[in-house]
Amino acid sequence: MDKIEIVGGVSLCGEISISGAKNAALPVMAASILGPGENIISNIPRLRDISTMGKLLAHLGMGYHQENGEAILQSEHISSIEAPYDFVKTMRASVLVLGPLLARMGEAKVSLPGGCAIGARPINLHIMGLKKMGAEITLCDGYIHAKAGKLKGATIYFDIPTVTGTENLMMAASIAEGVTVLENAACEPEIIDLANALISMGAEIQGAGTGIVKIKGVNNLRPLNYRIIPDRIETGTFLTAAAITGGNVEITNCDPSLAEAFINKLGETGTVITHGPDKISVKGPEQLKAEDIKTMPYPGFPTDMQAQFMALMTVAEGTSLITENIFENRFMHVAELRRMGADIRVEGSTATVKGVKSLKGAPVMATDLRASASLVIAGLAASGTTTIDRVYHIDRGYQNIEEKLKPLGAKIRRVT
Ligand code: EPU
Repeated sequence: MDKIEIVGGVSLCGEISISGAKNAALPVMAASILGPGENIISNIPRLRDISTMGKLLAHLGMGYHQENGEAILQSEHISSIEAPYDFVKTMRASVLVLGPLLARMGEAKVSLPGGCAIGARPINLHIMGLKKMGAEITLCDGYIHAKAGKLKGATIYFDIPTVTGTENLMMAASIAEGVTVLENAACEPEIIDLANALISMGAEIQGAGTGIVKIKGVNNLRPLNYRIIPDRIETGTFLTAAAITGGNVEITNCDPSLAEAFINKLGETGTVITHGPDKISVKGPEQLKAEDIKTMPYPGFPTDMQAQFMALMTVAEGTSLITENIFENRFMHVAELRRMGADIRVEGSTATVKGVKSLKGAPVMATDLRASASLVIAGLAASGTTTIDRVYHIDRGYQNIEEKLKPLGAKIRRVT
């Protein structure tokens, strides 16, 4: 199993380019089910989750290959309506094929995702929405089996704004009969990106990116030719790596407007940040200052940046309160950061981080995608060597993280 080894203590310096957003690319790939023909999606990151989605679509009978940053998906023929457990257990986002398969084929069978490292993560709201649209849904042998003649538009209220739930229903409603209104919808930029992709296929969608999304069903959609937005979480991760090492880095091919909550918070730690429309310059301070955060749905502070921000706060002056409001078990990185000398105490959904003078390298274990990113950040700042085990978690969501960090001076290598 691969490990990543980092010898910390180098200030990062130079330029780094951001890849396409994983969490935008995955639903847009699933949307290609809705546009029979050749779908071309560009700015696709080279990640394990993307190839898992490609393989799942191929399992459904679609053609899939990825070259030069493009995913090419042939969706004239769909020969299976089943997303088996092997895919769903590897990647929960496999559930994104449920809405489009049901809408196009009138039937879908998708393995029910189990709990995951960061929380129980039920999908009851996806199911509730599809039922409101007329689907008959049974749960049998660990599978969700959904059937519908033609889905019908409905008004659907989400008790909690759900990102993939909003995406699944937006896709299903695009070719349903009549108008669907999603209330208390999630507002993440990845939802706007999916809506823009669907609109480019001929869908009629208003309000994506607000709490109320209206979708007027159309008979058919055309295939996609669409470019994915830059990854705001990869952007935030590299901003944090630059800040913790007191570095001076220019981040290119990004969209600063998608990361405002994070950029503002980072600015309050003493990090100097300036940005243009598609690049950000960041200069880490001599001494970081502690700041509190609370994770919230977009446009609040993203849960996907909580672990990385906590790594930053381990060496800040003062005490930082970090409250996780989205997932009930997203503090798995705490025990690993403590092994590097961090002073963190967790009570309920809040972690109290008392800044220490410095971290010390140690062997640590990646437990989920963003937790592993926080260990890379801590390792870059720590004295001595940090070895991160189970790096397959990082490869799910960061394209060649070590190859991107090396040109900035980081002493980082993959050990196979
Ligand atoms: N929830 C329910 N019922 C549902 C759906 C969600 O109770 O039917 C709850 C969840 O348990 C959670 C909250 O609602 O407490 C929000 O979950 P959401 O459904 O929004 O999460 P998701 O769609 O499963 C996406 C991202 C995650 C990201 C979250 C929150 C993708 C493929 N995944 O997950 O990304 O953390 O939104 O922003 O878009 C990651 O990239 O590392 C990652 C975990």
